Amino acid sequence: MEKFNNILPDYSKAKVRSNNTTVIKREIFDLPDQIKNIGIGRKYYLRTYGCQANERDSETIAGILEALNFTRVDNEEEADVLFFNTCAIRKNAEDKVLGEIGMLKKLKRNNPDLIFALCGCMAQEEMIVKTILEKYPQVDLIFGTHNIHRLPWLLYNAMMAKEKTVEVYSKEGEVVENLPVSRFGKHKAWVNIMYGCDKFCTYCIVPYTRGKQRSRLMEDILKEVRQLKEDGYKEVCLLGQNVNAYGKDLGIEDGFAKLLEEVAKTNIDRIRFSTSHPRDFSENMVYVMKKYPNIMPSLHLPVQSGNNEVLRRMGRVYTVEHYKHLVDLLKKEIPTITFSTDIIVGFPNETHEQFLDTLALVDYCQYDLAYTFIYSPRENTPAAKMEDNISEKEKSDRLQMLNEKITYYSNLNNQKYLHKTLKVLVDGYSKKNKNVYSGYSEENKLVNFTGDNINVGDIVDVYITEVKSYSLNGVKEDK
Ligand code: SAH
Ligand code: SF4
Ligand code: F3S
Repeated sequence: MEKFNNILPDYSKAKVRSNNTTVIKREIFDLPDQIKNIGIGRKYYLRTYGCQANERDSETIAGILEALNFTRVDNEEEADVLFFNTCAIRKNAEDKVLGEIGMLKKLKRNNPDLIFALCGCMAQEEMIVKTILEKYPQVDLIFGTHNIHRLPWLLYNAMMAKEKTVEVYSKEGEVVENLPVSRFGKHKAWVNIMYGCDKFCTYCIVPYTRGKQRSRLMEDILKEVRQLKEDGYKEVCLLGQNVNAYGKDLGIEDGFAKLLEEVAKTNIDRIRFSTSHPRDFSENMVYVMKKYPNIMPSLHLPVQSGNNEVLRRMGRVYTVEHYKHLVDLLKKEIPTITFSTDIIVGFPNETHEQFLDTLALVDYCQYDLAYTFIYSPRENTPAAKMEDNISEKEKSDRLQMLNEKITYYSNLNNQKYLHKTLKVLVDGYSKKNKNVYSGYSEENKLVNFTGDNINVGDIVDVYITEVKSYSLNGVKEDK
């Protein structure tokens, strides 16, 4: 084996954007025997933090580890190799991971041969990698979001040469196709349609940790969806940080509307997608959603703030008026549609009045669900350099006011399903009661229900008998 040279993340390279069109690399996963067999008799444990992009990456990591003949375990103490696929979106997410790495010292003491690997978005951060190298000697392997395909060689080096192995590419490379995958679900699948993000919202670290936007070719995406359908999958969720910009880097105009239409024509039962950016959401998209019943009437449309000045400073490049127009159009064309969103409170110097504008927007849109966050400054982002004079108390008060309003509308929206029948894809048993099944309706409502002859993966009609703030209860209807 060649001598391995460590490569550390470099932030100045991570923010550079070239005009190159996306290059697709078709990986032929042909490993030398000495690498292919390193997992025989060994077990791996994999923990995933963060968003669906990370979940999907973990499925690739699992696929690669299984190709190396490792067996998965759910308990850290049984594992020979441990993976943390991390998220960097907010400081509290990072602190949690660092705390959990701290606790691993004990496992390592019990099993000195244990290999501990850290990957994902935190691994792309210059300061985090520096801290880990200085203060967390229990970490043996660090790799980033751009070189997951290198895992067999990196792991081999960490295990066999017993060297600390660090390889993080700061600049994204090609789109790598044909990597092994071990999917965690049997009926619902994540399908990447693009990687990276070019939006550079001023608060956000993702464009640095995930690199330039790179779209997969439409034919590769469609092939994957068709295969999933053949394998019995009922639902796909098309993934990207800004799905509406799909294809821009391949020179395709209004690419996402075209892609979505083609995916709908595969006749897979259910299609969802995430995340939509209000700026790039075309009116064509609305009509494609309306035209195909297998595109679910449910949309995650992050707004972040209800005030134009704050949106401008966030670099979101749309106005509240544009956002409302989009929501109105979607509600008019697709009357059963439900909405979820993301909102940040306490962006640097957000005034009380500006925050009230966000509450007013929530009143206008009446979301079914919202993920709400207190702003967290991220290394090297433009917002981190903005002066911030809002007290912590004020930030948490705002979050609480916002959350109360969100719960109010969630509950109010759910009332309309009482005594109605919804189509539910059965995910499994309810955690609390094994006689109760659970799944999601087309509108993305969590439904718990009882009934006979129910199999996981079925799509069943459920009559709603009781409504809660964040879920519905019902009974299966027999035809
Ligand atoms: N690509 C998606 C979201 C990615 S991150 C989009 O554009 O909507 C998920 C959510 O985390 C964001 O929508 C935002 O609300 C929140 N977020 C991102 N950076 C943050 C930060 N620095 N502080 C607090 N919340 C943040
Ligand atoms: Fe971050 Fe904005 Fe890109 Fe979403 S669109 S990932 S919030 S930079
Ligand atoms: Fe977190 Fe990276 Fe996703 S920062 S939210 S895991 S893209």
